[in-house]
Amino acid sequence: MMTLSTPTVQVVAPETFGATAAEHIAATLRVKPDAVLGLPTGNTPVPVYAALLARRDVNFSRARVAMLDEYLGAGDRPISFYQWLRSHFLAAAAIAPERILRMPSDPEGIVAACAAYDRQLEQWGGCDLQLLGLGLNGHIGFNEPSSPGDSATRVVPLSASTRDANEEYWQGEEVPEFGVTTGIGVILRAKRIILLVNGARKAATLRQALDGPIGPDCPASFLRRHRDVLVLADRAAAGQE
Ligand code: GLP
Repeated sequence: MMTLSTPTVQVVAPETFGATAAEHIAATLRVKPDAVLGLPTGNTPVPVYAALLARRDVNFSRARVAMLDEYLGAGDRPISFYQWLRSHFLAAAAIAPERILRMPSDPEGIVAACAAYDRQLEQWGGCDLQLLGLGLNGHIGFNEPSSPGDSATRVVPLSASTRDANEEYWQGEEVPEFGVTTGIGVILRAKRIILLVNGARKAATLRQALDGPIGPDCPASFLRRHRDVLVLADRAAAGQE
């Protein structure tokens, strides 16, 4: 894969961040009602799902959803990314279970389950639109620094900074040591990618992803090897305030 282009960066006011991303998703579903949406969790996409659900003109009845990542061993617990996505989007959008590709999380048979995830996604024709958040250390999904650019979906050890950042979700419980993530190679096979970045604390990471060397030190930098990436940043993340 070659470096084809610099990603387009769309800078918006924080109050329009969610609605702008929601419009990109709505546009994808208008063109292709059974589009496969790769969806992340986290603080960043909260306003995106809220804005998308607030619209009355989006038909989710044929949309398909592929989860981006999960904690190893999370199962159906309230703390799982699956339950998070259910409560922030899947339930309200009434996405039927057969149209949801869950990230496996059971440690038993996890290697085969990750391969099955990649096969199913391929059978679906891959993601039409992959939404991503940006980790403070440059991770995308749970692809931590040192992740290869051609990685498949797999179990990864979580870095100390990621475990710290995820502490708030775990409310006193110990954050799991491992995550399960869509590989960077799989992410790069999406037809279109939108990287969502908000807040001043992500500004330096975003700059590194866009202007630093392309490589495993900053996994998000690999996105520059894709020809259709939109970075949607609020002004603070873009370093404009
Ligand atoms: C987490 C998740 C990612 C998420 C990222 C940013 O660790 N594994 O999927 O995109 O970190 O999270 P946030 O949007 O809460 O800053």
